[in-house]
This record gives sequence, C-alpha cells and structure tokens, in this order.
Amino acid sequence: MAELAARVQELHHLLNKYSHEYYVQDNPSVPDSEYDKLLRELIDIENAHPEYKTEDSPTVRVGGEAQVTFNKVRHDTPMLSLGNAFNEEELRRFDARVREKAGKVEYMCELKIDGLAVSLKYEEGRFVQGLTRGDGTIGEDITANLRTIRAIPLRINKPLTFEVRGEAYMPKKSFEHLNQQKEEAGEQAFANPRNAAAGSLRQLDSKLASKRRLSVFLYSVNDFTNFHAESQSEALDELDELGFKTNQNRKRVADIEGVLEYIKYWTAHREALPYDIDGIVIKVNDLEEQDELGFTQKSPRWAIAYKFPAEEVVTKLLDIELSIGRTGVVTPTAVLEPVRVAGTTVSRASLHNEDLIHEKDIRIGDSVVIKKAGDIIPEVIRSLPERRPEGTETYHMPTHCPSCGHELVRLDGEVALRCINPKCPAQLVEGMIHFVSRQAMNIDGLGTKIIMQLYENEIIKDVGDLYYLTKDDLLPLERMGEKKADNLLKAIEDSKDNSLEHLLFGLGIRHLGVKASQVIAERFETMDRLFKVTEEELLEIHDIGDKLATSLITYLNNEDIIALIEKLRRKNVNMTYEGLKTTEIQTDSEFNGKTVVLTGKLHNMTRTEASKWLEAQGAKTTSSVTKNTDLVIAGEDAGSKLTKAEKLGTEVWSEEEFMEKQKEIENK
Ligand code: IVH
Repeated sequence: MAELAARVQELHHLLNKYSHEYYVQDNPSVPDSEYDKLLRELIDIENAHPEYKTEDSPTVRVGGEAQVTFNKVRHDTPMLSLGNAFNEEELRRFDARVREKAGKVEYMCELKIDGLAVSLKYEEGRFVQGLTRGDGTIGEDITANLRTIRAIPLRINKPLTFEVRGEAYMPKKSFEHLNQQKEEAGEQAFANPRNAAAGSLRQLDSKLASKRRLSVFLYSVNDFTNFHAESQSEALDELDELGFKTNQNRKRVADIEGVLEYIKYWTAHREALPYDIDGIVIKVNDLEEQDELGFTQKSPRWAIAYKFPAEEVVTKLLDIELSIGRTGVVTPTAVLEPVRVAGTTVSRASLHNEDLIHEKDIRIGDSVVIKKAGDIIPEVIRSLPERRPEGTETYHMPTHCPSCGHELVRLDGEVALRCINPKCPAQLVEGMIHFVSRQAMNIDGLGTKIIMQLYENEIIKDVGDLYYLTKDDLLPLERMGEKKADNLLKAIEDSKDNSLEHLLFGLGIRHLGVKASQVIAERFETMDRLFKVTEEELLEIHDIGDKLATSLITYLNNEDIIALIEKLRRKNVNMTYEGLKTTEIQTDSEFNGKTVVLTGKLHNMTRTEASKWLEAQGAKTTSSVTKNTDLVIAGEDAGSKLTKAEKLGTEVWSEEEFMEKQKEIENK
C-alpha cells in the first residue's frame, strides 16, 4: 500500500510537471502519448482505490460529475473593471491625471486578452475555488470547469494562501476546431472565441468543459502579503516562478510615448497572435504609486484599457427589409452582400429607423461601411455616396404595415413607426415567440419556424392555443417526426408548472420586464389577486413606475385578455407564485450563514431539493470542500469530498442525521 501511495505521489508530480511544461511554458519534454499513459494509470488507481482521489489530483483535468447549478459566491475583494480610452488624446489625458498626483511614473503595458475574467483562490498552495466576475461583487463558482484548464496549476510550489486573477480564453486554434465540429454536427457555431470560452465555462458538465481546450493568462494578485514584489512587473515575474501562466508580451515603458509605441506595434501585429486581444491595458508599474492613486467607485485610477477601434468593412446594401416587433414597432433591416467582419459573416444589420437612414443618406444599391458595435451587433455606419450607382432613390418607409396593411403611426415623441393593430399577424407571432422564450415560459424546441407554420395554418391564434395542441396538429408540419412532436408536447406540458412571474413576463405586457414580473409575482402571489390590484398598490412598490402601473391595469382590464387567461386556466396553467420569498429565509435557523456541501447519493430527496431547503434556512451551498466549509452532508458513496472533509476535520453528517434535524426544525 505504501508503494501505491508513493506511486500516486509520483504520478501527481510527473503529470503536474508535464502539464506545466506543455501548457504554461509551451516547451514539452515528453510526447502527449506519455502524458496520456500516465494519466490513464492514475485514473485506474483512483477507480480501484477511491481513497487516493483528491480534489487536486491531475485526473480532475478530465472533468467530473455534472452539476445542477453554479453557486453564487461573494468575492473577498470586488472584481473591478477598467476605465477605457479609445484614442491617443484620451490616453494622454490619463497620463496627465496620473502625473499630477504621482509625479513621473513608469508604465507596464499588457495585452488585453479577450476572454472572461476569473478569480482563483489558493489555500496553502492548492487551488480550491474559482469564480467568474459576475456583477463584480458576486460571482459564480465554476471551480470544476476551471480545474479542467491545464494551464491552471492545481498546486503551486509554495504553500501560499491568496487569490490570483486573470483572463480565461479560448485559443484561436481550439475555437476553429470547435466550430468545425459544431458545423459537422449541424449545430450553431459560436460567433467568436470569447463567446465560445464563456459557453464552455458555463457548462454544468465539466467533462464537456474539459474537451474545450481553454487556457488562461493571470495578471494580478489581490494580496501581496506573502509576495516580495514592489511593482506590477515584479508581481508578474513572481507569478511565473510560482508556476502560473502570464502573458510574456508585456513590456515596461518609461512614459506615455513608450505606451503609444507599444500600442502601435500590437495594433499592427495582433492578428498574428494565437489568441484574440481587444486592446492594451496600461498600469502604473510601482505598487506604492498605485496605492497613492487609489480607486474610483468602479475602477483603479492607476490603470486604463485602450480599446482597439472596431473593424470596419465595405459591402453593398442589396435591399431594406422591414420587421415588425411584438409591440408593433417597424424596424428597417439592411440586407447586405455577405461579408466577413470581426470573425463572422454578416448579411443583415439593423438600420434602426427612418430618420437615421435619411441622416446617413443610405440608399438601396449603395456601398456601405459596416462594423460590429461592441464587436457583436452589426451596424451600418455610413454610405459611400461617391461610389453610388445611377438611379438610386432616397428611401421612404411604407405608410402601411407590410404584415396586416393597417396604417402605421408615429406615437408622440417617438422616432419609431408602429403598427397599432392589436390583431396584426406579425405582432401576434412575435408575441408568441416571446411567450415561449427562455425567461418567459421556456418551452424548448418551439422555434420561430414552427410557430409561424402553426399560425399560418390557423392551428393557433394566440398563446392559449399552445396548450390545446395535439400530436395530430404537429405531425403534418415540416421536419416534424414522432419523437420531436412528443418532446414538444412534453415541453408545453412542463411549462404549465412555471411560477407566476414566467407567465406574467411571457404575456408581453408593455414596460413589464423580467425583474418587475418577479417583484409583482412575489408581492401579489396569484393572478386572481392581480386582477383586483389597484394602481396605488402597484405604485407603492419601489421598482414600479407610473408607466408600468398604468400599462398593467389597462392590460388586466381588457376583455380579450381576461378571456385568454381563462383559456390558460382551463388547461391548468399555473397562476401562483412558487418561488421563495426573500422574507421567508429563516434567519433564526441554526443553518443561517453556514456553508454546506452536499455530496453522495441521497435517498429521501434530491440534492437540489436539499439545497433549496438549506438555502431557505439561510445557508449557502457550495460544490467543493474547503477550509470555509462548515458542514458536509454525505449520502451514499460520498467520495473525495468526504475524504477531504475528514482530512480538514470538517463536521460531517449522514443523510439520517440531516433528516432528523430537518424534522426537528420543521416541527418547531
Ligand atoms: S487588469 C481592476 N489586465 O479587461 C481591474 N485586465 O475592465 C484590473 N483584461 O474584465 C484588470 N486582459 O478581465 C487587466 N492584462 C490585463 C487584462 C485585463 C484582459 C480584462 C479584465 C476585465 C477587463 C478590464
């Protein structure tokens, strides 16, 4: 046994060393096959002797059990963002502000990696928790996925407790490979490496995340107590020594002229990098000077992000199409000759409204310049009148709705044209698409095409009809098979159980967003109560303004709507708030404020139910056992988490003990 333990130690050591050589130093000393062979050996040992499985074993690189959700965790120190500069003038102003307060300073220039900010916590040299940025104050615990990133050391060579921050990203090569696979499987490709990285880190199944080949560059430490560094450049060197991957294209420069040179160089050379960057980060190098400059509410005064200008390309405007939204707004859309910009092919772009088309003098047939706003949404910036062919005309929006023929109007103070016919087919279809969307009734598989066909064939006229659909209604549709029809009917059936806020949001009441739907559902609890609500009662609620209150009351007094709600009710669509009331959290419970880990199989309830119950008691449930864990509830076959808890001396309960305690609390 001692021999086996020694072999396990050796395998850990070798696998960590090879990972570091390959993924951090980019300089492997053994071929991949050797790494795979040793990893296989370790997996086999752990399968046969689970007591050797630890949370920092190199086998976690291949992923583990799928999770149900990501836990939300508060950052020890908030994750701030940086102020932006878009041109030389703004950079010089930043430099002037810095020098005014700190005198002449040296700057550290770093590439701004286009990925996702992550925060990695190490305790005594072991990687114990990794969070997303979230809203900067509270992030999501994505430890299991981050453990699969081989550039993140699971152990470092000093027993330090601290947090290191950086950017997780998907290398261009991995991105191309992934999209090729997606295309072959007939799935939608990711728009860019950033989205692909974000999607991968949000996989609940870390085995899938492990296949995505992500990487990371670390760029800051949040507590320098155990560091010798006196500057950002020394801190990065120290991170290198500890075994972290930092970006080697950084450069220390003497002044703003050096910064501008660095920016010029990388603007010209960024394409050749094996990963995407979206700018340059400039930091005052000296840590004492950083302290002197301090922070604003949102960001440090000692750093700024220079953002590269969005890529612009020229293409042809082939046509202008109109689309009608669910509130009747008619939006002109540019139909473009397909062109590649910022990583994807673009063939359509919003033109917003008629005024803008005139202002920019955009005509069908023109050559136009387009870019992606925020590098995501395609936009027409201007036309090139000097290249205009003969015979083009100024564009005019139609006077009547292209869907129903009703006259279009401009409501007071709005630039948008609207179709105000409540029975306009285009609006009704858009309204139904909204009803089934994820944040509304979340009916999976019911896409635009199916809804359009059902509507055009007069099988559905409103969202109420969805609950009366039969298999015979669905089977004649294009590309619909038995299985797909069954799945769809099941998804519709399941949506009946949604809590009230989903229905409220899904109805598409003007000015009623996700947040207000939640607040209203929580406050009034049932649809019946809502039918009786007064404007005054609504206005008493902090988040609700005049416009929404009026809109909701008008909506609920409409005969057609009353009939629609009855139609839904007859099919048992739930109209009650099912969520947890914030006021219902038991602050006097002995679980309040405790951090609890559930592991192993439970017999009397699912783990989700158990964590919901614990959360209602004010506890926080997390996925990994750390020094901060107060209690571990271990079901059958609890594996490495139990071992870890025992090692740390954390309190451990069996399922029976947990049930007892539940009973005791419920009967109080
Ligand atoms: S320093 C106080 N350095 O850019 C924030 N950020 O708003 C300190 N980023 O989301 C950030 N590369 O994740 C820093 N070399 C780098 C960076 C970098 C990318 C991201 C960061 C944040 C955004 C800045």
